[in-house]
This record gives sequence, C-alpha cells and structure tokens, in this order.
Amino acid sequence: IPTQIYANAKDASAAVAKEIADLIRSKQKEGKPCVLGLATGSSPKTVYAQLIKMHREEGLSFKNVISFNLDEYYPMQPDSIHSYVRFMREQLFDHVDIPQENYFIPDGTVPATMIADFAHRYDNKINAMGGIDFQLLGIGGNGHIGFNEPGSLINSRTRLMTLDHSTRAAAAMEFGGLHQVPKKAITMGVASIINAKRVVLLAWGERKAPMIKAAVEGPVTELVPASYLQAHPNVAFFVDERAANDLT
Ligand code: F6R
Repeated sequence: IPTQIYANAKDASAAVAKEIADLIRSKQKEGKPCVLGLATGSSPKTVYAQLIKMHREEGLSFKNVISFNLDEYYPMQPDSIHSYVRFMREQLFDHVDIPQENYFIPDGTVPATMIADFAHRYDNKINAMGGIDFQLLGIGGNGHIGFNEPGSLINSRTRLMTLDHSTRAAAAMEFGGLHQVPKKAITMGVASIINAKRVVLLAWGERKAPMIKAAVEGPVTELVPASYLQAHPNVAFFVDERAANDLT
C-alpha cells in the first residue's frame, strides 16, 4: 500500500483536500456528479476544515457532489449530539454549498426488522450513482474500516454490525461513559468500500502505528479489515510520522 508520510496531520490533510478538490473540479468540467464516500471521527476533521477553506477562499463548489457516509450508530436519532448526521453537518455540510438531497448517511432510526432492506437500498443507491469515485477512511485501533470490525468478510455489504469493546471504549469519553455508547452501528461493508475507484486512508498519532504496520506490511486477514485494502489498485495511506512509526 503506497504510504505518504507527512510531518503532521495538517500538511497531510491539505494534500488530501487538494486531491478531493481537483476531482470535484474535473467532474464539474465534464458536467458529471462527483461521488464521495465520507468518514467521521477525529481523523478527517482537518480535511473537512481545509475543504471549507477552499470553498470560502477559492469558490470550490460542492453542487455536483453526491456523498455517502460510511456509518452511523444504531440506534441513533439524527439530531442527537452523537449522531454522524450532526457531525457531518457541523464539520462540513453546513459550511459548503452541497444540496441537502445530495448527501446520504445510514439511518440510525430504521426499525430493526427493516435494517437489511435499508442496507440493500443504500448499496443500490451507491451503484445507481455509478459507484464511489473517492472513498475517505480512518482506521480503528483494532484495524476496522468503517465499522467493519475484525472478522468482517471481504465480500461484506452494508449491514448492522455489533461494535467491538475497543471501539465502544474509544467512544466512551464522548458519550459520557461506556454504557452510553450504542452497541451497534450500520456500516458500509468491506466490498462497498473496496469497489470505490480511489481509496485514501488517514491515520494520525502513535495510537494508530501498530494497525498501520499490520495493514501495510502484514498478511491480508479478516483480523485486520484494513489489510483488505492491499488488494485495491488505487489506494493510498496518508499518515503522520507518529502513525508511520512502526513501518519498516
Ligand atoms: C468513522 C469510521 C471509523 C473511524 C475510525 C477512526 O466513520 O468509519 O472507522 O474512521 O474509528 O476514528 P478516529 O478518526 O476518531 O480515530
């Protein structure tokens, strides 16, 4: 996996934001939509901040952007402070000119009996848009991508996932205690992610170093879902020096 190592997250994020902006603009010139797969969590915040800056200072328009988020906790109300709907609006959507009907986030309110149907329609919608042009990812301390926890299969599609203890523990502070963190999430599957034409994974800080090493240098294994990306023809990891620390 090609790995770009930067001195800090800010420089790496500027490079990633530039790649996304170039793609949006080139699709605009062709009169086509630009289909983005987006992530939440702390890692992409600096990329979104840079995109907002480019919107304000360079007039980068998101009118032709269609986006699909990777995941949402389940159950989750969209107006909750913990929802990924809220996160995306605060971190990006409310600050740029993306039409509200152009972004999709898994629905944390669908009744349990209808999740499979919802997930199927989510994948179909991505396919109907021609697939994802650019997929942004973070990586969990356990190697997850999206909320595809260890054990997820390479052909997995959007579905309900039981979160690992370590994933819930990582979110405990934000939720005000482990017992407040939802036990499940709806996540795009590994196949849904791997089908993207371009995949960029972000990782900042020492905490991510062991899983960056495992994903880049280790065997392809369901125990480290990010290792599935080794099979992708157009993937890159953008990391800071600390996250690259364990690479040989
Ligand atoms: C979020 C997501 C997760 C995070 C991962 C890293 O939409 O899909 O895989 O990317 O848990 O989270 P941070 O960036 O907070 O370290």
